[in-house]
Amino acid sequence: MLVVYYSSATENTRRFVDKLGLPSARIPLRKSEEPLIVDEPYVLVCPTYGGGASISHQNSRPVPPQVIRFLNDEHNRSLIRAVIAGGNSNFGADFGKAGDVIAAKCKVPYVYRFELLGTDEDVRLCREGLLGAAQDLGLEAA
Ligand SMILES: Cc1cc2nc3c(=O)[nH]c(=O)nc-3n(C[C@H](O)[C@H](O)[C@H](O)COP(=O)(O)O)c2cc1C
Repeated sequence: MLVVYYSSATENTRRFVDKLGLPSARIPLRKSEEPLIVDEPYVLVCPTYGGGASISHQNSRPVPPQVIRFLNDEHNRSLIRAVIAGGNSNFGADFGKAGDVIAAKCKVPYVYRFELLGTDEDVRLCREGLLGAAQDLGLEAA
């Protein structure tokens, strides 16, 4: 079971992932850093950065560029098994929209969404859900 995540300088997603207490790998913050290459099936945890595009029509790219770069690598993309998205419910219909986009593009289930750094209940549900469904999701290493 591997959790791959991206988190910006505000580090909400990193704090959520740390609380999950599962093995994890971070997609680098900057383009200048060594890219992450994974070697086992993973669940991707990704914050949403679309700026509420449904209502503002100003930014239609909810998935951070560093995550797009990571998924553009065919080997990395072949190992994604599920997606979890972070966001802020203030963005209404666009709450956690990065998860919808990644699920559609990579054809994997969108299994959980959480706000900011997640509540203790989010952490419990998400951790138990992932561990309980690891085999069904194909998250066990081969
Ligand atoms: C510029 C900007 C745009 C955002 N757009 C969205 C959005 O469209 N939908 C959403 O649910 N959250 C949106 N958020 C909220 C972030 O997803 C949220 O703050 C998240 O916890 C950030 O994670 P990070 O600190 O790990 O980068 C946006 C935040 C910022 C700063």
